[in-house]
Amino acid sequence: MGAYICGEETALIESIEGKQGKPRLKPPFPADIGLFGCPTTVTNVETVAVAPTICRRGGEWFAGFGRERNRGTKLFCISGQVNHPCTVEEEMSVPLKELIERHCGGVIGGWDNLLAIIPGGSSVPLMPKHVCDDVLMDFDALVAAQSGLGTAAVIVMNKQTDIVKCIARLSLFYKHESCGQCTPCREGCNWLNKMMWRFVDGKAQKKEIDMIWELSKQIEGHTICALGDAAAWPVQGLIRHFRPELEARMEQFHKQVLEEKSIKASA
Ligand SMILES: Cc1cc2nc3c(=O)[nH]c(=O)nc-3n(C[C@H](O)[C@H](O)[C@H](O)COP(=O)(O)O)c2cc1C
Ligand code: SF4
Repeated sequence: MGAYICGEETALIESIEGKQGKPRLKPPFPADIGLFGCPTTVTNVETVAVAPTICRRGGEWFAGFGRERNRGTKLFCISGQVNHPCTVEEEMSVPLKELIERHCGGVIGGWDNLLAIIPGGSSVPLMPKHVCDDVLMDFDALVAAQSGLGTAAVIVMNKQTDIVKCIARLSLFYKHESCGQCTPCREGCNWLNKMMWRFVDGKAQKKEIDMIWELSKQIEGHTICALGDAAAWPVQGLIRHFRPELEARMEQFHKQVLEEKSIKASA
């Protein structure tokens, strides 16, 4: 109970069957062999909640929202540095900026004080402000922006946020929540976490940025469930858009070490 991994549908099935909540290797998918070996469909609470309205008003009504291939409404849960964090049902493909300004009273300190946004829950790559300015909140637009709609849990970070620390905190979360079945996830999440906290202090060599990128690529796509990808993508987003920030911290740290050494030598 209480394990994040039990949200993954096959881990949930295992857990309901009284076993440890560890994801199953797929195929077979639950639609063929699911709970107690029977065909099973696992649906999100949001899917269940919207189904009666779709049945009542018809599919065409629901498809009237959003863009082609990105139809319907979506629950957006907006947290972080906004004036009024909230969960709101909005049309798919709503512009991200409009979503935040209309429903959350804007970014704390104003839109220009925005640093970056994670648009689809902690597992998707962040987007820097210039991408957030006019990106639409749907599957295709966010994939084109090298991120994803994921759970549509929007995490807003303004310029007062320590972005490296935020991503390190996510790495710690995924390390904690890994069920440990797959070696790339079990070992990789641990390494990502260790390296990320050194990056927070700048206590690393610049070449380690490429090493952690490579490590994240060894995790991504090489595991039983998507938790491995979820651990890899936030780190990749940070490197893609904030490499200069990582390098600046490393330079600052090494400068400080040299200064301390010269003070000791002259004492
Ligand atoms: C690590 C992990 C955690 C997940 N946690 C949840 C969760 O908490 N709630 C949820 O609805 N789906 C979660 N999912 C997705 C489910 O596996 C499944 O795809 C989803 O519930 C299907 O419902 P839908 O088709 O109605 O969206 C998770 C997936 C992964 C890989
Ligand atoms: S990817 Fe991680 S959480 Fe998912 S099954 Fe493998 S070890 Fe478990």
